[in-house]
Amino acid sequence: MAETANTIPWEKLTTAAIAVRLKAFAPYSKFKVGAALLSTSGEIFIGCNVENASYGLSICAERSAIVSAVSAGHREFSAIAIAADPSAAPCGACRQFLVQFGAKYWVRSLSPNQPDSFRQWTTGELLPEHFEF
Ligand code: THU
Repeated sequence: MAETANTIPWEKLTTAAIAVRLKAFAPYSKFKVGAALLSTSGEIFIGCNVENASYGLSICAERSAIVSAVSAGHREFSAIAIAADPSAAPCGACRQFLVQFGAKYWVRSLSPNQPDSFRQWTTGELLPEHFEF
């Protein structure tokens, strides 16, 4: 089972995701996304979407946060909060990227205006029967 969801410091994660969303570089879609990822060691890593004139090169907030955490030496996670307006469930590529680091941590999607009406899953629920090498 996943670590129980009510031990996660959701308020800290939510605040961090909402704050980093404002740093998003999204001149094409204008859709800003922020993510805050909690390592099992208790540290928070943030990421935002970064778009590119060559649209397909754009990177999502969730993958930015994972890259940031892994670059700092962290590979085990408890939860990720994702802020977008309106709230958005992770895209397929991000689901695969998230589940690479475990099928049992929490994913919460929320909007900055109504952070308490969130949707929440585990990584495994978001991508059942996921690819493993
Ligand atoms: N986006 C994310 O950052 N995360 C998602 O899970 C879905 C989409 C970004 C990618 C692009 O910059 C913008 O949202 C519109 O698709």
